[in-house]
Amino acid sequence: MTANPGSERLDALLAQVLDSVGGPDPRVRELVGGLVTHLHAFVRETRPTEAEWLRAVDFLVRVGHTCTDTRNEFILLSDMLGVTSAVDEVNHTGPATMTPSSVEGPFHSPAPVRPMGAWIAEGPERERGEPAVVHGRVTDCDGVPVAGAVLDVWQANDTGLYDSQDAEQPDGNLRALLTTGDDGAYWFRTVKPSSYPVPTDGPVGELLRAVGRHPMRPAHVHIKVAAAGHRPLTTHIFVAGDPYLGSDAAFAVKDALIADFLPSDQARFGMDGPFLAAEFDIRLVKEGDPR
Ligand code: BEZ
Ligand code: FE
Repeated sequence: MTANPGSERLDALLAQVLDSVGGPDPRVRELVGGLVTHLHAFVRETRPTEAEWLRAVDFLVRVGHTCTDTRNEFILLSDMLGVTSAVDEVNHTGPATMTPSSVEGPFHSPAPVRPMGAWIAEGPERERGEPAVVHGRVTDCDGVPVAGAVLDVWQANDTGLYDSQDAEQPDGNLRALLTTGDDGAYWFRTVKPSSYPVPTDGPVGELLRAVGRHPMRPAHVHIKVAAAGHRPLTTHIFVAGDPYLGSDAAFAVKDALIADFLPSDQARFGMDGPFLAAEFDIRLVKEGDPR
């Protein structure tokens, strides 16, 4: 046997497949050609047995069967393999001062419009959880305030559940649409979110267990910002000190997105007792910025 059995035939096979990739759209040709090239390289390197390959195909079939109108196991698979974060990385370059983007995740849903400074925690967590204020300013990358920016905020509660996963929470709980005024300032009252596991009752959970990985995401608040004349931003605010910051199951943590939730008893933000304050400024990139 040679050191690399069948390699000439594999070369010829790959060339033949790449030759067959045509069609009118050059981008489709580039994407499909790249996928074929990398899949063939994977087979050459790892030399799966036929039983292993069929098992992989069966896994993908089961990922598909696990999808419903409210659950997308393929996106979860992409998240857990770091592919969603890689796609985020190649698509969101910009000035060094911009707020970095991060993955959207599967728990976004339409949020209620609330006044600036609203309490967004309206379920049992309001009594149980640690009260917190998240505040900051939306500016451009030169620090100029952005008026009329719409912040779409969503988070899990103090036990790590979103409203859609928890019958005890009213619909729209821990979600808000907030619009900035002339000073670009934003703030809302909430409870400190908790770290939580991604869903593990499907094939992606099996994969995590098979490779010895935990399913936890560090505590975070999601924010999407839309403002005329600026690039839209989808990002997270991560809670400093969370034990899972260094091993996020979705590989979505960026240092600039970590905020301290610091104890405060100042008479600020209309709070009537001690609370945690997290300051997080958001710097948007102007549309047309070449960076
Ligand atoms: C989330 O933060 O909501 C999330 C992101 C990626 C995978 C699972 C959950
Ligand atoms: Fe989340």
